[in-house]
Amino acid sequence: MKIILLGAPGAGKGTQAQYLKQKFNIPQISTGDMLRTAVGNKTDLGIKAKNFMDNGELVPDQLIINLVKLRISEQDCENGFLLDGFPRTIPQAEAMSSEGININVVIEIKVPDQTIIERLSGRRIHMSSGRIYHITNNPPKNAGIDDETGEQLVIRDDDIKETIMKRLETYHRETEPLVNFYSSWKNKNMSTKPIFISIDGSKKAIDINNMISEKIS
Ligand code: AP5
Ligand code: MG
Repeated sequence: MKIILLGAPGAGKGTQAQYLKQKFNIPQISTGDMLRTAVGNKTDLGIKAKNFMDNGELVPDQLIINLVKLRISEQDCENGFLLDGFPRTIPQAEAMSSEGININVVIEIKVPDQTIIERLSGRRIHMSSGRIYHITNNPPKNAGIDDETGEQLVIRDDDIKETIMKRLETYHRETEPLVNFYSSWKNKNMSTKPIFISIDGSKKAIDINNMISEKIS
């Protein structure tokens, strides 16, 4: 099973990925999480990516394409994977097709911009695992503390209002065209085209998960 999760910043890609990776027993490949680790470790990639991320812009395609290519060649991806945050531009999607990677399902999670600002302003994350919380929608058992490890939760560097607005702009300009890119495949005469599912992401996370499961099955 090869799945793409498509959606604006804060639409709930990471939250849904946490359910789906267990359901299908496939790894979650979050390019955002991989980049944050690289930034934290001050690797070459992290140093190159940091300014783009802090400014709410996309990291250049070639850096991301190389990163994903390498990751999906690992053994745990043999039976499939869940792409969270990739592809994010038409050239990224085309690079994947030209590598012969056939996606089974593309899931678009749709949420109004106003909801996104509220969600990202209250998000807290556990950096090393990528676990996601929200101060009111999905609070940890103890405020500011990860449920599983007892470690501190943090606010992402790009979850400040100004950067959230920039990320939304970037999404509408660079990534939203992928909705049409993938949804129009249904009209093509191809044997290996993905199923395209569009979901109302403003519902409760668990209800969204049930809707996705129902549509996939
Ligand atoms: P990335 O980390 O992918 O960030 P993003 O796309 O901006 O998305 P988020 O992770 O912010 O949101 P999400 O949809 O995962 O929502 P979540 O589940 O956390 O990328 C960061 C940066 O890296 C980019 O800006 C770019 O610079 C770079 N980058 C990454 N990939 C790239 C690529 N392919 N090409 C180029 N550059 C790239 O949920 C958000 C909050 O809402 C949480 O608090 C959660 O608890 C809450 N929530 C979730 N679902 C619900 C619900 N149904 N109801 C109520 N609350 C909910
Ligand atoms: Mg995410």
